Amino acid sequence: MQTIHTKYELINALKPLTNIAFVPTMGNLHEGHLTLIQEAFKKTEYVVVSIFINPLQFNSTEDFKRYPRTLEEDLSILKKIGVPFVFAPSESEMLDSLQTFAMHLPQIAYDLCGKFRPGHFEGVAIMVYKLFNLVQPEMAFFGKKDFQQLFLIKALVKQLDLPINIIGIDTVRHDDGLARSSRNSLLNVEYRKKAPQLFQTLNSMKEKAIKKSLSFDEIEAFATQSLNASGWIVDYLSIRSSQSLASPVHDENQLVILGAATLGSVRLIDNIEFCIHD
Ligand code: PAF
Repeated sequence: MQTIHTKYELINALKPLTNIAFVPTMGNLHEGHLTLIQEAFKKTEYVVVSIFINPLQFNSTEDFKRYPRTLEEDLSILKKIGVPFVFAPSESEMLDSLQTFAMHLPQIAYDLCGKFRPGHFEGVAIMVYKLFNLVQPEMAFFGKKDFQQLFLIKALVKQLDLPINIIGIDTVRHDDGLARSSRNSLLNVEYRKKAPQLFQTLNSMKEKAIKKSLSFDEIEAFATQSLNASGWIVDYLSIRSSQSLASPVHDENQLVILGAATLGSVRLIDNIEFCIHD
């Protein structure tokens, strides 16, 4: 495995290759990341994994500081599973010039997580764009847990004509339903037990939406109230079109329920996609 720390070395190492599959990460690798890597290996032997905790996408310094950093463990996992290239730049290498170019994103980037984490998706978009330019992959893999991120990255490559196939991979869950996330390691024992309630709530919202016994607004309000009552602080629980992320139009069939809520000081997100009728 080549562990590469500079942009210059990365460009040189990848120059002779075609058909590169890219898995960008912020490290603290878990089953979710490993599934993305496995899927990448199904397409090509040239898999590039990046590990970079991107300061541009954190809207709170506190959150950035305590984000789990496990580079040594991550590298040994990647080595074991035979990843040929890992790009792990330092902050100064990756952000060596002032990032004064900004991206104005589609309106949907300022809704849902974008509303509660100002600047987050601009930071993601700039970093993903930089990484795509450096790696020049044929395809890139992202988890569907970050549904809004995946949606925006698909829009980014489409609107900026980047010749990259963006592949979304299903969320990997613990046995109790909790979506795998690097942030789970920040939960204490009590909150870890409680954490599956987020996915359970999304599931019960889905059942209600299919039954049509309540309006979507009522389903969202009821679910928000019950999670808040059991000790969460809900940012949003929202039923949307899975195609546009807008509020569903009348009789829309392909839906997604997205949720973000905080337990203690740990903010978790999750979502569930479904169709109202077959
Ligand atoms: O999903 C992530 O881990 C990050 O947002 C990404 C895509 C690596 C960009 O920093």
